[in-house]
Amino acid sequence: MELVRTVAALGARADAARAAGRRVALVPTMGALHKGHLALVAEARRRAELVIVSIFVNPTQFAPNEDLASYPRDLDGDVAKCRAAGVDVVFAPAPAELYPEGAQTWVEVGELAKPLCGASRPHFFRGVATVVAKLFAAARPHVAVFGEKDYQQLQVVKRLARDLLLGVEVVGVPTAREPDGLARSSRNVYLDAAMRGEALALVRALDAAEALARTGERSPAALLETAHKELLRAPHADVDYVELRDAETLAAVAALDRPAVLALAVRFPAPRAASGAVRLIDNRVLRPGSQEDPR
Ligand code: PAF
Repeated sequence: MELVRTVAALGARADAARAAGRRVALVPTMGALHKGHLALVAEARRRAELVIVSIFVNPTQFAPNEDLASYPRDLDGDVAKCRAAGVDVVFAPAPAELYPEGAQTWVEVGELAKPLCGASRPHFFRGVATVVAKLFAAARPHVAVFGEKDYQQLQVVKRLARDLLLGVEVVGVPTAREPDGLARSSRNVYLDAAMRGEALALVRALDAAEALARTGERSPAALLETAHKELLRAPHADVDYVELRDAETLAAVAALDRPAVLALAVRFPAPRAASGAVRLIDNRVLRPGSQEDPR
């Protein structure tokens, strides 16, 4: 496995693979790799002969009051995990490689980036879309693999790849979970045991709303109320949003009459995090059900 630090070296590696007729896959990450990332690597490996993992804590997707400085970083550990997982290339650039002196070009995705995390973190998707476009330009992948935990991010990246004619297939991988159901996240390390327990409210909220949808309930208000009630059973949960939106367009829905994503973002106190809190997200695609539906 090779550790590559420059855009030029990465491009040369990708071009050589492409010239030899090998498919190239990219797994973009911010490091602090966990089993969820390794599931993305496994999917990339199924789809390509050259697997590149990028590790870059992207400054432009953090607001000044967010956790850029304290975001968990462990390059040596990440490289070891990538090597064990059979990754071919780890791309770990310095910020100036991706944001050259005087950089002033941004990628902004429209409607998809506005609700949910886009509403509570207005800077976020411009930073993500910009860095992902740069990573695609540098790694020239045939396919790029992202987690479905960041559901809105996945839709934003799919849209930008189509809109900018990048010729990259963007693939989503189901959310990796701890045995008790908590979605795996690099930020889980900030949770102490008590908050780790309370954080299970997210998956309980998704389960409860899904169970209600299966009974045939189609009212967004009823589904959201059920999810919200579960979240509020966690005494320290500070709910950022609980929303039901069209699974493709992320537009608000008047009824669950086609697949819709139930998306949650909740903060929990976390003295170990620089901001004193950790914000967790999770989601589930709900489908219209009926009492006859045995799922
Ligand atoms: O999901 C992430 O880890 C980041 O948002 C990404 C896609 C690597 C862009 O920095």
